Amino acid sequence: MDNQNSHTPKSIHGTWSSRWTFILAATGSAVGLGNIWKFPYIAGENGGGAFVLVYLLCIVIVGIPIMMAEVFLGRNARRNPVNAVEVFTRQSGASHNWRYIGVMGVIAGLLIMSFYSVVAGWALHYVFASISGTFTDISAAGSDAFFGGLLGDPKALLGWHSTFTLMTFIIVASGVSKGLGAVAKYMMPFLFLALAVLLVYGFLAGNFKAGVMFLFTPNFSALTGDSILIAMGHAFFTLSLGMGAIMAYGAYMPSSANIGKTILTVGILDTLVALVAGLAIFPIVFANPTIEVGAGPGLLFVSLPIAFGSMPLGLLIGTLFFALVAVAAWSSAVSLIEPAIAWLIENKGWKRIKAAGIVAGCCWLLGLLTVASFGPLAEFKPAWLLYFTPFDFFDFLTSQIMLPLGGVLIALLVAWKAPAALLQKEFGFKSQKTQTLLLFLLRFVSPTLVLLIMAIKLFETLSQLGA
Ligand code: TRP
Repeated sequence: MDNQNSHTPKSIHGTWSSRWTFILAATGSAVGLGNIWKFPYIAGENGGGAFVLVYLLCIVIVGIPIMMAEVFLGRNARRNPVNAVEVFTRQSGASHNWRYIGVMGVIAGLLIMSFYSVVAGWALHYVFASISGTFTDISAAGSDAFFGGLLGDPKALLGWHSTFTLMTFIIVASGVSKGLGAVAKYMMPFLFLALAVLLVYGFLAGNFKAGVMFLFTPNFSALTGDSILIAMGHAFFTLSLGMGAIMAYGAYMPSSANIGKTILTVGILDTLVALVAGLAIFPIVFANPTIEVGAGPGLLFVSLPIAFGSMPLGLLIGTLFFALVAVAAWSSAVSLIEPAIAWLIENKGWKRIKAAGIVAGCCWLLGLLTVASFGPLAEFKPAWLLYFTPFDFFDFLTSQIMLPLGGVLIALLVAWKAPAALLQKEFGFKSQKTQTLLLFLLRFVSPTLVLLIMAIKLFETLSQLGA
């Protein structure tokens, strides 16, 4: 705990012990399935290079500034996202209704958690498959069949979904510094190491050149309104933005830490992990003609077992790798439900364990729809779900609509309403130029870009319906 700013309210949930604990926790939230599972597969589905470029641009000019705005709101109030926004509206004289940003965020977090834990469950299943030698000398076709077998087994999916939800419950129930801080601190470094091993493998044994070309040669003809929106939405998803997760973590950030530098570090780490994951996966994909780059959500789970099956110590490294993916997902999942839990504790006076139990229970129930999306509901794509399965619909609704909208509202609120003194106190900018740049990005650039991209996609959809 720090006592430098006695006028700064303390969070009742505790404070990270140092700036680095915040960085690790925020990176723990940001780095997850989004980087290792989702980024490679959506890059594969959307043509690679140009898509990656749009994603990187969105990270830099939209994502990082909004992340700073979120931490600003969180640390300023040291409350859960709903209350943090409310405290800020009182300080700045903005309308009370802005607090619905927090409400939308809490809902988005629960929706994401519902499918996130199903996919994290796949990683858990793969830990056990790997350690029992299933992947030794596996062929591309064999790997594909193994993944298909898992999706076609609702009992297994349900079991792993339940296990992962329970794991997340245990961490959030044990509280901020004991639960959340500890996981991040010990696990993140191992994840970086395992990815580095895979990168070296891709370089030595895969088609590294084809992988690099695919990721970094922009082919703009592959870009559609749809893929631009997916890239932008992913910038929000991967940085854990737009729903208050980072705001909730910001509430536990020491007052002495510099927001700008800290967030820049988190953004860079998150982007590096995604790119390295891509560089590890695509060389394997291109070395095995039967794996399609556009294979979809199974891309990671089909491609990597082939690498583990044929590399020295593959059994060990494969087991370690999937365990690390599960851990990365774990430290992210915690941040998906922490805002809802902090809200129930602060506003309803519930005990942490009760709040965590009810929230995790709701996500578990909702998750059954995702489990079913790979089995009985695979062909259930009604018009009222926009012709998506429930899993695809939740993913679309959160990543491409709720998170970007939430993020833009946060940007507008902070950049237009924050009193100068408050900005100075939280950001402590040394140069006026930096502050002007940040406010410019938040006030004009991110709202325009986000709304424009949504409009393009809407226009594209409407003209397709018309055609
Ligand atoms: N960023 C995480 C990932 O890439 C997922 C995540 C955690 C998240 N908390 C979030 C996404 C909050 C959106 C909002 O896997």
